[in-house]
Amino acid sequence: MSKIVPGISPSMMCADALNLGADAVALEQAGAQFFHYDVMDGDFVPNFMLGPDVIRAVRKVSAVPADIHLMVKNPERHLHLFDLRPGDVVSVHQESTVHLQRALSAIRAAGAKAAVALNPATPLCAIEDVLPDLDMVLLMTVNPGFAGQKLVPATLPKIARLRAMLDSAGYPQVRIEVDGNVSFENAVRMRQAGADLFVAGTSSVFREGGIAANMEKLLACIQ
Ligand code: DX5
Ligand code: ZN
Repeated sequence: MSKIVPGISPSMMCADALNLGADAVALEQAGAQFFHYDVMDGDFVPNFMLGPDVIRAVRKVSAVPADIHLMVKNPERHLHLFDLRPGDVVSVHQESTVHLQRALSAIRAAGAKAAVALNPATPLCAIEDVLPDLDMVLLMTVNPGFAGQKLVPATLPKIARLRAMLDSAGYPQVRIEVDGNVSFENAVRMRQAGADLFVAGTSSVFREGGIAANMEKLLACIQ
């Protein structure tokens, strides 16, 4: 099990859009390690979602760092639109650019931590030559684009294989984030497999019961 302190990155696309500031404050008070912003272009994924202005608005009420998940084609062309801060992390999809190493370098040059996101069907070998450029790997545990989907079962053992790959290659400090159907039950299994950052959406934190209680419950699942 990695020595990284596990944490929750609530999926802001699942928050109450009409009360986003209040939800952000409640999430911060409940211990959110990051806020997860799903940015979608309607091309790389068949949906549109969030943009730089939403991130700027939330930063006015909370200092929780941004965990920006770019589900967009050629993400390296759009990084300049985001007001990146030290402590932020930006994930680009391996499948979304022919210039992955350049994109990861550009994220670090902008002062943020760099991460690569992998769809369920994308093999781990696709990132073996960019390990030095990574601070985190985001494993999609559903196919990206929509909340409320069900876990792709093959992604669970993929978490463990990734942790083993990173550790054996000398990168134990590289985090593993999981994104999609992170329910209370799935979070326990994902943690056991080696995940340490959990994108929490409609499956857990934004379910009935309220943010504070659900965050407390999910934190207990990932210790
Ligand atoms: C999927 C999104 C996630 C997540 C939402 O593309 O990136 O934010 O699935 O959470 P759930 O899956 O719990 O509704
Ligand atoms: Zn996401």
